[in-house]
Amino acid sequence: MAIQLGDIAPDFSAESTEGTIRFHDWIGDKWAVLFSHPKDFTPVCTTELGMVARIKSEFDKRNTKVLAVSVDDVPSHKGWIGDIEETQSTRMNFPILADPDRKVSNLYGMIHPNANDTLTVRSVFFIDPRKKVRAMITYPASTGRNFDEILRVIDSLQLTDHHQVATPANWKNGEDCVIVPSLQDPEELKKKFPKGYKALRPYLRMTPQPNR
Ligand code: BEZ
Repeated sequence: MAIQLGDIAPDFSAESTEGTIRFHDWIGDKWAVLFSHPKDFTPVCTTELGMVARIKSEFDKRNTKVLAVSVDDVPSHKGWIGDIEETQSTRMNFPILADPDRKVSNLYGMIHPNANDTLTVRSVFFIDPRKKVRAMITYPASTGRNFDEILRVIDSLQLTDHHQVATPANWKNGEDCVIVPSLQDPEELKKKFPKGYKALRPYLRMTPQPNR
């Protein structure tokens, strides 16, 4: 069955460019982003891995580990890393999982046969420290991902885990949030949102981001 939000992320053990990865142990008490690439030595994937390497410190700030997966083997990945570093002006600083037998790709439903029956699509799984799948994004091979959006999703998940807010359309870290409709008690509202809020409608209440 397809993975759904709230499911425990399937665990696995697989080889990577940084040795064997036992996925749940590797995540430890951090957040994780697992993202698939159709194939080594392909142009869009090369730019994506270079981008993630360049902004890795942004993932670190968010207590989040990143793990790429591609259906080729470790020697192929290692050869490709040379190209990524040279063409994308970066040093690789996170592991690429080898998946020549499609074990991980199949476990996570990353192969969509009507798109391509042997290569993965561009899947992204956001996994929390309890190993729950908290968000998923899927793009076709022809569309490179926007990693600012991936950081934005992590920001939203981490914020809304700790405050009774949700993040509106195109929200970015630091911008106003909406108060969850279930919170109605006036005393609680005062306590949780000391900076106040603006009710545009009874169900649409905007408040400054509570942890800022
Ligand atoms: C790419 O990464 O450039 C790519 C991979 C598979 C199909 C099309 C493009």
